[in-house]
Amino acid sequence: MEFYEVVRGRQSVRSFKPDPVPEDVLGRILEAFRAAPSWANTQAWELIMVSDAGLKKSLQSTLPAGNPATAAVVEAPVVAVVVGIAGRSGSYKGKAMTARGDWMLFDAGIAAEHLALAAAAEGLGTVHVAMFDFVKAGELLGVPGDRSVVDLIPLGYPARVPKRVERKPLSEFVFRDRHGDRYFPN
Ligand SMILES: Cc1cc2nc3c(=O)[nH]c(=O)nc-3n(C[C@H](O)[C@H](O)[C@H](O)COP(=O)(O)O)c2cc1C
Repeated sequence: MEFYEVVRGRQSVRSFKPDPVPEDVLGRILEAFRAAPSWANTQAWELIMVSDAGLKKSLQSTLPAGNPATAAVVEAPVVAVVVGIAGRSGSYKGKAMTARGDWMLFDAGIAAEHLALAAAAEGLGTVHVAMFDFVKAGELLGVPGDRSVVDLIPLGYPARVPKRVERKPLSEFVFRDRHGDRYFPN
């Protein structure tokens, strides 16, 4: 699939067929995650591919009531769990290099979206799920204390094509040279 077609075509999918994802497809998607850039190539991330039905059910219990992705976490044949490693991204010799401190979430987010776009290119659906109890999720999956679960990504063949969620127009948020000088004046 052409790149812009993939970018425009990716949508959050929250309803999945039970069909398993072939290993070769999963392999390509994982390579896309691996290819992501990170602060000084620190790659302060890990992935746990959860397909065990009991574990998916337990993970589901970490979502608060009303999270629209609740069903997706058990319906998807696999949930890619993005784990971030603290204190590496944005630091040099243990010292934070910017006032923002740890850049792990930023790096993990880029890599997670690489995975989501690769999945879309393979005809698969995903949704980023960040509204959950990350401490409880880490305990359930045996994640060590210097690491934390950042994102749950249910992954599988879509059962339903969702309604497209609109974006604000470029004219609203792109500026030329200085903030406030519109790049696309109306
Ligand atoms: C950091 C992040 C966290 C998100 N967390 C959730 C979530 O907990 N539950 C959910 O249903 N969707 C979640 N989403 C999906 C967004 O709601 C969705 O991307 C947004 O509404 C735009 O829709 P689209 O992805 O279909 O274009 C999350 C997305 C991002 C980027």
